[in-house]
Amino acid sequence: MKIQLTLNGKKIEADIDPNMMLLDFVRQQGMKSVKRGCDTGNCGLCTVWIDEKPVLSCSTLAARANGRKVTTLEGVQEEAEQFSRYLAMEGADQCGFCSPGFIMAVLALKREIPNPTMDEIKEYLAGNLCRCTGYQSQYRALEKYFGLEENA
Ligand code: FES
Ligand code: FES
Repeated sequence: MKIQLTLNGKKIEADIDPNMMLLDFVRQQGMKSVKRGCDTGNCGLCTVWIDEKPVLSCSTLAARANGRKVTTLEGVQEEAEQFSRYLAMEGADQCGFCSPGFIMAVLALKREIPNPTMDEIKEYLAGNLCRCTGYQSQYRALEKYFGLEENA
């Protein structure tokens, strides 16, 4: 089947197998930031956006992106780098395998809830697992990024 979509700001057309997953599609298009973790919709590593809403690309058919706008980390590099600095400062970038999906979820949260509480942050990011950090360093980075410390 043929699909047309905008991937990181660029209009593309492709002929795909109707069963192809969005994860495989975006990686085939060169978006190698998108990682495969569990492949069963449980870890968040494969998070991308469709029309600025986060989706798990391992569990989303590429066909669902037809006519839509898909964004991966490659499409929000400047913003991602800005948040990454907070992760680095708190020592939350260990193996880094979870980072692309995690950052996509954080930037989506920022769009949906510009000034979230820590509870809202935790709830929003509950599906993004990390095997290395134990989450505390990530929470510290999030606290600083969203300016929760100043508001405390
Ligand atoms: Fe998609 Fe784990 S690889 S949720
Ligand atoms: Fe290694 Fe998160 S930093 S899985």
